[in-house]
Amino acid sequence: MLSQEQIERIVADVVRQMQPQMENAPAPDTCFFEDMDACIDAAVRTQKAFVRVGMEKRRVIVEAMRKAAVENAESLAKAAFEETKYGSVAHKTAKCLLAAQKTPGVEDLETRAITGDEGLTLIFPAPFGVIGSITPSTNPVATVINNGIGMVAAGNTVVFAPHPAAKKCSAMAIEVLNKAAVAAGAPGPLLYAVKEPSVAASQRLMAHPAVRLLAVTGGEAIVSMAMKSGKKVIGAGPGNPPVIVDETANIERAAKDIVDGASFENNIPCIAEKETFVVKSVGNALVEGMVRSGAQLIDSAQAQKLLETVLIKKDSGYVINRAFVGRDAGYLLKSAGIPVQGEPKLVVTVTTKDHPFVTTEMLMPVMPVVFVEDVNEAIDCAVEAEHGNHHSAHMHSTNVENLSRASQALDTTIFVKNGPSYAGIGFGGEGFTTFTIATPTGEGLTSARTFTRTRRCTLRGALDML
Ligand code: COA
Repeated sequence: MLSQEQIERIVADVVRQMQPQMENAPAPDTCFFEDMDACIDAAVRTQKAFVRVGMEKRRVIVEAMRKAAVENAESLAKAAFEETKYGSVAHKTAKCLLAAQKTPGVEDLETRAITGDEGLTLIFPAPFGVIGSITPSTNPVATVINNGIGMVAAGNTVVFAPHPAAKKCSAMAIEVLNKAAVAAGAPGPLLYAVKEPSVAASQRLMAHPAVRLLAVTGGEAIVSMAMKSGKKVIGAGPGNPPVIVDETANIERAAKDIVDGASFENNIPCIAEKETFVVKSVGNALVEGMVRSGAQLIDSAQAQKLLETVLIKKDSGYVINRAFVGRDAGYLLKSAGIPVQGEPKLVVTVTTKDHPFVTTEMLMPVMPVVFVEDVNEAIDCAVEAEHGNHHSAHMHSTNVENLSRASQALDTTIFVKNGPSYAGIGFGGEGFTTFTIATPTGEGLTSARTFTRTRRCTLRGALDML
């Protein structure tokens, strides 16, 4: 058997030999450009130098980026909140720390060796080169940290196309990470962006021949634009995650978990609980538990007033009023003229499965609760409410058969059992974190290895195991 160290040395040699000759042009000293083409050229140049610094240095650079993200988590969170008004500084800080600490790095890259009578074959992860990363307004800085670490760990440089509504905080995150990377030995900035992000700039990024891979997190418009680019796309699509509670669940814990998950960042995360289906024998107990955990219960007349405030009627149904996306529960209630009790984390209303609060991805802290006869009806309703997105779903139950049936029927990328939704991205749950959950394109929870292409190198007649 070859040791890990031997394999890594062989891989490093092979990669070095297979690299095209490095261009002599020095890496640029700025990461922000007026023009997208100039930005991409700079990213190409730096990547050629970066890939040759070696794996150990790359590891050191990634660690420095993590440290800088931890040290700046709160100021980045504040900047994101001030610019977008979505969610909260405390939750954004938690997300930045999560991304800094639990995004897989260089250790995520695995090389396989096959040896036998005919020699040795190595299958190893190589960088794409330059990746175009399109990032959302709902989660701007944590996505830059998360994708920045993962893509750089994989040996790439990145050109970000931040949502124009989050350009300043995204630029700040890019700058913080670059500064740390260069101080740790990177040959130049590893993350890039244009000074004025726009739809046109993002379109140019999607069309540029030097960009080998697109990772897109955002609303439907931008994801479908990227899908038409003809490039390989890692796309994070929409969700409308249901949560099921059956009669065997620990109801008090389920109530708290749902309130915590659905109110985190005022419900803007795509994995957050967006509607609840509860078996009616435990329905009242669940709602009472939710109120004890910080939710405010409103009746159907108040729910109607809230609907008329936060949703807009369109021919085909309802769309969200963007002025209320990611805003506090108290703000929503006040805007609808409903008396606010204390500082509610979430608005809860008992309703029917076809209510617009159930069928629309709300992106605000409003939780419709639907009482159903039994777990089978709950599963059917949850499948319908999820709209076949196969994104995320959650369940509270102690019955393994019920949990398995729901998991199979929903067939989602993330399925959290007996915890808040964010446990599914490693926040209070096992496993690494990611904010690019690629359901439509199939990569699932992305990490450094997702941002590599597989190469194979065969040596014939030597280094076999004899
Ligand atoms: N770069 C450039 N342009 C972008 C962009 C990016 N990264 N992201 C979006 N845009 C464009 C859109 O294509 C759209 O262009 P158009 O006006 O020509 O149609 C425009 O910017 C507005 O984008 P959009 O995000 O739809 O509008 P908004 O800012 O008013 O809406 C949200 C905000 C949050 C409601 C909306 O983005 C949304 O529904 N997002 C889904 C949730 C989400 O972002 N999930 C990602 C996982 S965290």
